[in-house]
Amino acid sequence: MPPPAFQRDLLKWYARARRDLPWRKDISPYRTWVSEIMLQQTTVKTVLSYYDDFLREFPDIPSLASAREERVLKAWAGLGYYSRARLMRIAAKKIMAEHKGAFPSAYEDVLALPGIGRYTAGAILSIAFEKPYPVLDGNVARVFARLRAIEDDVKDAKTVQRLWRLAERLVPLKHTGDWNQALMELGAVVCLPEKPNCGSCPVSRHCQALQRGLQDELPVASKRKAFIALKWNCLWIEQEGKVLLWKRNPEERFLKNHWGLPEARHIRAPAGAWIKTVRHAITHHRITLEVVRGKAPEILPPEAAWVPKAKLKDHLVSSLWLKCL
Ligand code: ADE
Repeated sequence: MPPPAFQRDLLKWYARARRDLPWRKDISPYRTWVSEIMLQQTTVKTVLSYYDDFLREFPDIPSLASAREERVLKAWAGLGYYSRARLMRIAAKKIMAEHKGAFPSAYEDVLALPGIGRYTAGAILSIAFEKPYPVLDGNVARVFARLRAIEDDVKDAKTVQRLWRLAERLVPLKHTGDWNQALMELGAVVCLPEKPNCGSCPVSRHCQALQRGLQDELPVASKRKAFIALKWNCLWIEQEGKVLLWKRNPEERFLKNHWGLPEARHIRAPAGAWIKTVRHAITHHRITLEVVRGKAPEILPPEAAWVPKAKLKDHLVSSLWLKCL
């Protein structure tokens, strides 16, 4: 049975128009996994400047599983959302222990890996194993909302369920990797959030939003979360060419297990002169760092360490600390 016209039109377009992206070559479950994790919350443009370097440093699951966490965080430095990197390393260890180092191909096993949810499991299984699992991310949800003129809030749990069901119904039995990537690609380059390019859309004849003139109104999404303002009082404690750094514990809200400047809440140190104010956003949090001079405490807590100034960049890997430096 030939695929329905919508599927055929979209797959044909994808074969012709797909961007030449590194994770679309030499496909393996590991490479697909790395790309899909990086592409969560990060643009293709940014991921392009990390992907090959990361794979050079961690070319396979064993190398990632045996790497020290700090090395993985360093390779991730600047991509943000560091729990992605931490969980990948833990998942790699689990794959070594439970699957003899081979990325699992059963849906339940993939979903059981830390950091992998329904979207990522569907992406890896369809792209690397050609299994007919659907994906739904922001791009795909927008494409579906327009295609079917869905006027409900696409952030609402009920609508999300409905969109997943639609994704399941549409996923073809063959070429599932191309299919899912074609949907994402359409959302990324044609069916844009503002001003969709309906004139160059390969499936515009199937689009109910366009037929009803709703393409600019859909999807309906509830308002973005308001920003939450946070203030970090950081201490610059310097002595004999070394700076006191602080290893953040796993219970921190942000930058868990990262080295950073100590904050006033971490150590008792008399605060001195103001040095600078740095602003940085993490998810929907706007962080204002006030950096002031501090004096070394008499007894160093175990989380603290003196690091030569020339070596600070080896430890302070996240963008937030780099801004400070
Ligand atoms: N965003 C998420 N996954 C993607 C992929 N495989 N190709 C392009 N953009 C993506």
